[in-house]
Amino acid sequence: RRPVILDCDPGTDDAVALWLALASPEIDLRLVTVAGGNAGLDRTVQNACAVIGLAGAVVPVVPGADRPLLGGFRGDGAVHGADGLAGIGLPPGPPPVRAVAADAIRTMLREARPGSVTLLGIAPATNLALALATEPALADRVQEVVLMAGAWGEGNWTPSAEFNAASDPEALAVLLGAGIAVTLVTLELTAQALVTPGRIASLRALGGGACLRTACDIMAAVPPSRRLGGEGHPLHDPCAVAWLAMPELFHAVPAAVAVDLGPGPARGRTHIDRWGRSGAAPNVTLVEALDADGFFALLGGRLARLP
Ligand code: BDR
Ligand code: CA
Repeated sequence: RRPVILDCDPGTDDAVALWLALASPEIDLRLVTVAGGNAGLDRTVQNACAVIGLAGAVVPVVPGADRPLLGGFRGDGAVHGADGLAGIGLPPGPPPVRAVAADAIRTMLREARPGSVTLLGIAPATNLALALATEPALADRVQEVVLMAGAWGEGNWTPSAEFNAASDPEALAVLLGAGIAVTLVTLELTAQALVTPGRIASLRALGGGACLRTACDIMAAVPPSRRLGGEGHPLHDPCAVAWLAMPELFHAVPAAVAVDLGPGPARGRTHIDRWGRSGAAPNVTLVEALDADGFFALLGGRLARLP
């Protein structure tokens, strides 16, 4: 079981990702830190607590950054709704811990063995970057940073950039330069995890408890992606969790990745070089292909175990 710190911004797909992490025996979820992102920080913290509470789990939830390292908060109400959960109300969960995310991450890393902790980032990477930038020596405690971030091609937030990368490009750059093994789950990968009405019906047929039922309600309430042809929407963040729970569902390749920090229209774009054209050495494991049916079977099987 890998000890995991999960940094999130729930977020419809973050909620499903949290449930998948809680239901996966490969993952020892030690700490959940929260950033503003899909909704404002107060809301994303409340949602993280509610999601964990519905699963009957006890994991510390620690609030963190309400805005990126540079600039102001922007949010993503168009996909996730004003409440961050597409309007699906959840009963309130246990309260968050009165601490600061970057402090909590550093404390946990200090107490860990070298190379033992996985950082799983499914939000603007501000909290993880603050933790490592303020105590860089703690990088040696990290086994791997797995991030849902970036895109080879078209973005989903700006024409050039994916939401998490575009929301805090400097934070992503800190993680890419921290001397830690980074795995990137990009938009091209998550486009393969398309939630369609048929897949939701198959998940509902499994029965399960409140978590699986609510996950289906949330997924059914997310609008289909025009970018992907309107058949459904991509289930981004659970792909990053599944990489840890069942890596055999994926194919990954080495790549050199840099993030655009300029002020222009390409800000937050990830330049992904698979073929050595930039001359830069590979610094990332790029997850490029997914067994989608296997992924949804994993998701249903695992979430059906939750209350
Ligand atoms: C990412 O942005 C958010 O909207 C999702 O939760 C995911 O983390 C996808 O671009
Ligand atoms: Ca997210």
